[in-house]
Amino acid sequence: MVENHWYPVFTSNQLGTRPTAVTRFDKHWVLWRRRDKTPVMQPAYCPHRGASLAQGKVRGDEIECPWHGFRFNSDGRCTAAPCEGEVPTGHRLDNESMTVTEAFGLIWAWAGEGEPTAPPAFELMQEDLRNSAEADYILPYHHSRMIETNLDIHHTPFVHGSVLPGLGKEITEATFDEREDGFTFRANLGKPGEKRTMPFEVEFLAPALVRIALTEKLQLVVASTPATSTSSWLWFRYYQRYTNLPLVRKWISWLSVKLELAIVQRQDWRIFKGMAPGTIEDVDYHFVNADKPIMAYRKWRNRASGSARPVEPRLIASTHG
Ligand code: FES
Ligand SMILES: [Fe+2]
Repeated sequence: MVENHWYPVFTSNQLGTRPTAVTRFDKHWVLWRRRDKTPVMQPAYCPHRGASLAQGKVRGDEIECPWHGFRFNSDGRCTAAPCEGEVPTGHRLDNESMTVTEAFGLIWAWAGEGEPTAPPAFELMQEDLRNSAEADYILPYHHSRMIETNLDIHHTPFVHGSVLPGLGKEITEATFDEREDGFTFRANLGKPGEKRTMPFEVEFLAPALVRIALTEKLQLVVASTPATSTSSWLWFRYYQRYTNLPLVRKWISWLSVKLELAIVQRQDWRIFKGMAPGTIEDVDYHFVNADKPIMAYRKWRNRASGSARPVEPRLIASTHG
């Protein structure tokens, strides 16, 4: 994982008044909200004797452990130890607290030491959430592998041929625009004159977001955050710009989410299951030009994590540009 970045860790919608258990960054956490709705993210296991605080109750601005009723405030400080009358001095009972923030319908956690700025987001994410719908799940693959799959367009005619029959296979008219914190890749799938071609645009925003424009009016944003070292929390949200009609706009986005889930689960997961294990760095890739966004992601990871691995991924000669 590349540190000193904001990672989305949960959706705002799913975090209500009850504490919730999540696994992110290879650790178990409890997420809860204070009275003013501010989200809190703390190690899940009670410092006293290890009960899951996610089974506890929020009491005002504190969380109460289900086992012996110890309480912790949003900074993690132990504020009550009922069996002792008062909290024993020395503070060994204090919990910790992650730096979290809430924006764009997501809860974000700051992973690292440095000073956090604002969470990174695509312009699209400023849009009215009523034009959107979302879903999330855990997949048993390293998050770097999940990001690369979101940057992979040229699998479409092969894996999704039944949904898009006759789609061209060659990547043409590619343009690439690289920035410090990401890049945009635009191209066509298929050659001009072919029966079915598809323009597409994918954008990466460090460290965990990918935007995919399927059409100008239908786009999705995908996040891939480390759950454990071998699994990822995948979240995606569709935004539609076809209509502002109440209900219809939600319905279009919702339908897009359902379709995406059905297609990905039936067609992509089959491929994921068989792929080489490990992180993006563990696999000895032989990149071709169409893999440009995946190479750029790998370069960003190398740069951002100060990796000693060769910065320039291997590219085999190819005729198209
Ligand atoms: S384990 Fe939490 S109060 Fe005892
Ligand atoms: Fe796919």
